[in-house]
Amino acid sequence: MSDNWNALVNFDKQHLWHPYTSLSHPNPVFPIKSASGVRLTLADGRELIDGMSSWWAAVHGYNHPTLNAAIGDQLKSMSHVMFGGLTHQPAVDLAQKLIDITHDDLQHVFFADSGSVSVEVAIKMAIQYWASQGQPKKQCLLTIKNGYHGDTFGAMAVCDPDNGMHHLFSDVLAQHLFAQSPNCYGQEHYDKEAINDFEQLLKNNLSSIAAVIIEPLVQGAGGMRFYSATYLKKIRELCDEYDVLLILDEIATGFGRTGTLFAYEQANIAPDILCVGKALTGGYLSLAATLCSSKVANGIGNGKYPTLMHGPTFMANPLACAVANASLDLLLHSSWQQCVNDIEQQLKSELQPCQQFNSVKEVRVKGAIGVIELHKPIDIHWMQPRFVELGAWVRPFSNLVYVMPPYIIEPDDLSLVTSAMKLVVSEIS
Ligand SMILES: Cc1ncc(COP(=O)(O)O)c(C=O)c1O
Repeated sequence: MSDNWNALVNFDKQHLWHPYTSLSHPNPVFPIKSASGVRLTLADGRELIDGMSSWWAAVHGYNHPTLNAAIGDQLKSMSHVMFGGLTHQPAVDLAQKLIDITHDDLQHVFFADSGSVSVEVAIKMAIQYWASQGQPKKQCLLTIKNGYHGDTFGAMAVCDPDNGMHHLFSDVLAQHLFAQSPNCYGQEHYDKEAINDFEQLLKNNLSSIAAVIIEPLVQGAGGMRFYSATYLKKIRELCDEYDVLLILDEIATGFGRTGTLFAYEQANIAPDILCVGKALTGGYLSLAATLCSSKVANGIGNGKYPTLMHGPTFMANPLACAVANASLDLLLHSSWQQCVNDIEQQLKSELQPCQQFNSVKEVRVKGAIGVIELHKPIDIHWMQPRFVELGAWVRPFSNLVYVMPPYIIEPDDLSLVTSAMKLVVSEIS
């Protein structure tokens, strides 16, 4: 590596925080020069096949000419204007597209600048909805364990209470309710015990519960756990029966990842409030959205507290909206369903053999997501460079070695990634 790159890595080590790391004991980082398609090119020229889609986002791969052009075109008119008192075509077009592709009930869109912020907005909407209905005590959320909804304080308060370092912030975090997370991966039926636990909490705390918040079908960073569509359907039924709002966090699952455009479609239900982000811009820029039904929007707007008090500086950023519009067009005009289905089949056949290794607890696949859960936490200092040696970009955490590649990945490239996963897991067995 050249002196320049070495200097960059050294500066980084001393001054830059990376996600979920310590500055005093940093994890290894690799300088990257460029990315194109499913290939990440490191500073020393090595190419890695991307298994991560940059955390669920880059579904079309990197440096896509259509997405590049959308940003270039938008730059010619304006890169940003405030959304207070102004509106513009990219935002209106994107809102129209989101309304068109989500459930008919969802008619109103709030653009946020990250997934976590869209969750904050969803929580605010739910609490404000009930306050506007004359029920200001309904401020609590019910969720399930092993969830992940972001790192800001409101979102963090509904993340898994044990693996999210809640104890450190327990005096400042809002106190919410956590039901058992369901054990029904790969099953048609729901987990009755988990549903009973959920219903008990709902029933016993009804006067204080504003909404249920949950990631549909796939719990991401809280454990990469999957559960059945019937469980999700049951959650919707219970929300209806007890009259609480349902917030679905599709920030990770949205835009095709689980095999349907939105995971909730598999349960044939609709949320009252929906959060999307990540793949919304094809991984180009940070943008998220909170959609809600007319019941929620009018419930707030015509109620005692009609103004939704939220307004990020970069709300509905035109560049981000323009690239999101292009990314959605690209997705909807592609054979994404076939791609996701093919990836799912390949992940199943190539990862399933890992089940034989002593280190492996479970292999699970859902849509274009493949997970190997290990019995013990991984050593990232060993495992990350090992994947790089093998030419694959896989970023494990906790006891999970998992991938969610770009939808455009070719079978040979995916095989390189799954072979690397197999080898790495075999080496710790
Ligand atoms: C389900 C879910 N919700 C919320 C978030 C937070 O999104 P962001 O990192 O854009 O704030 C994430 C990010 O991983 C997520 O997976």
